[in-house]
Parts: sequence; structure tokens; C-alpha cells
Amino acid sequence: MENTVQSSLNYYDNEPERDAFLNDVTLGLQKQAKELPCKYLYDERGSILFDKICELDEYYPTRTELNIMQTYVDEIVARLGQNVLLIEYGSGSSLKTRVLLDNLSGLAGYIPIDISKEHLLNAAAKLKKIYPDLNVHPVCADYTDLFRLPDDIPSSASRVVYFPGSTIGNFNPGDAVKFLHSINNIVGSSGQLLLGVDLKKDPNVLHRAYNDRSGITASFNCNILTRINRDLGANFNTEQFKHYAFFNPSHGRVEMHIISLADQTVQINGSTIKFATGESIHTESSYKYTVHEFTELAGKAGFTVERVWTDEDELFSVQLLRAGAS
Ligand code: AVJ
Repeated sequence: MENTVQSSLNYYDNEPERDAFLNDVTLGLQKQAKELPCKYLYDERGSILFDKICELDEYYPTRTELNIMQTYVDEIVARLGQNVLLIEYGSGSSLKTRVLLDNLSGLAGYIPIDISKEHLLNAAAKLKKIYPDLNVHPVCADYTDLFRLPDDIPSSASRVVYFPGSTIGNFNPGDAVKFLHSINNIVGSSGQLLLGVDLKKDPNVLHRAYNDRSGITASFNCNILTRINRDLGANFNTEQFKHYAFFNPSHGRVEMHIISLADQTVQINGSTIKFATGESIHTESSYKYTVHEFTELAGKAGFTVERVWTDEDELFSVQLLRAGAS
């Protein structure tokens, strides 16, 4: 009889379908104010470009968050406790997570969730090499939709969702509350959420962070058009579109757009989309909060703020929230 290799590296495929992509793209581009869901920025190339953004001089969030994590890791793991099932939303390369994995003792398991299949599996395989005893259960899913956690996870563990990178900023405040509510349901009463929240600051600092000199953010943004061409057989002339990002103080958010440089039409799977010169596609919002604003928002989703850690310039915050009954 053949031996089956018992592996704790499981993989649950909920990768979004082409149909859903096509539907979201045509719907978004047929609106009066054109928009595309920012989750589609992260195909394989998009994820690689995003990793490059994280290393840019101008892009302060990644290194600042990592710094906060490293500085306060003892305090953080002490507050998380033992027998933790760590569930990471949007794990990407799981870089910041390593600070936790290195310092949490008696970890029950790690569930990285990411929309990009290649990225997820590569990162999970690397983690298995570094932490051979760790139970890694990767889940390929859009965590803004309903998704299933693997069946074979320890049920007695205390659940902690880790949501770094200030990705919470991608939601408008109303949706952020709904989303935090869904996390509240996943972790259960007295579960915890450890997340990164980017803070309000000098708009010029924000402007530079989303308009880097080397143009990586521009490539990241416009790559969504290349992806639509490839995956949906569209015919965007990417030379005729340009990255545009700015901080909108009245909404408290950085907005990322792609601007049409000409009057032009684009074909996507039988639909014709017209663009006027100067017309924009809104591809991403990145909300910034004060600590006080975020405490209020978390409260609306049934979370109490246990602790907030920041860097000395108060550019970024790492926040530990405790779920109440939701
Ligand atoms: C991953 C959503 C946190 O908003 O700063 C970086 C994405 N967009 N540069 C952010 C992003 C442009 C990033 N988040």
C-alpha cells in the first residue's frame, strides 16, 4: 500500500472567478463616476509591485508598522496569550507576521488568507520551511466575501485576527464597520483583532507616499488595466492613461485614480466603454484616521480598544481590539 504524506500545509481554493471579475469591471466602468474595486490591483504582478512600494523611501507605513511591531512585540504577545489561532487577512508575503510567529509561544495554528493564489502559496511554503512545526492552513479567498475556514483547525484555541498594513483604510467608514462586525463574528466573543491603522498627518507626507519618484505606485495602479486586457480580453491602450493620487481632506482619504489622456473607447467582452479626456477611474481610497476617530468606529462594530501603539512621530498605529458580543 502507498503511503500518503501527511502535510499540515493545506490549501482551500476560493479564488474569485473570471465571471465575477468581468461583472465587477463592466459594472464599475459603466457608472457615471467610473471606478474599479481595489482588490483587483493584486494579481501576481500587482502583488510584486505592491511589495516594491513597501520598500520605497516615501512609503512610510510598512517600515513604521514593522518598527512598532518589533518595539512592542513583548507587550503584544503578552496580551494575546497562549493557544492562539492566528488568522491573517491579506497575508501577502507575511513579513510582519514573522514578528508574531517568532515570539508567540504555543501557537495553535496560522491561517493566512489572501486573494492572490501564487503569492499565498509561495509565502506559505516559505513559512513552512522556517517554522516546520507550525500548522499552516492557507486559504485563498476574498475576505470581504463570506469564506469558509478550514474544517481541521483546533476548536479550543482563542482566535486572533491579524489585519496589518492599514488595509482597513480601503473601506469607507460605513463598510469598515460592517467588515469589523464580520471579524467580530469570526473571532467570537472575547476574541481579538490586532490591526494596523494609518493615522492622519501632514497631507504632503501622504502625497509623497502615493506619488513616489520612481513611479512604482503609478505602475501598480495602472497594472489593473493590463490585467483587464489579459484576463478579460480588453483593449486598453495603457499609454493613454495616467496615475493620479492625492489626499482629499474633506473625506480624510487618499484617492488613487487613473486618468484618461484622450477621448477614447475601450472594448471589454462586447461592451464599449467611452472615456473623455481627463475622465478618471477611481481605483482606490485609503482612509486615514485619528486614534479617537478609529476608537469610535471600532465601537460601532462591538470592539473595545485594548491598547494602541504608535511610532514617535505618530504616523501609524497598531491597535489591539477586544470583541464583545456582536
Ligand atoms: C495596502 C491598502 C494599505 O492604501 O497604502 C499603496 C495600498 N496603494 N500605495 C495603502 C497602496 C498605493 C495600501 N494598502
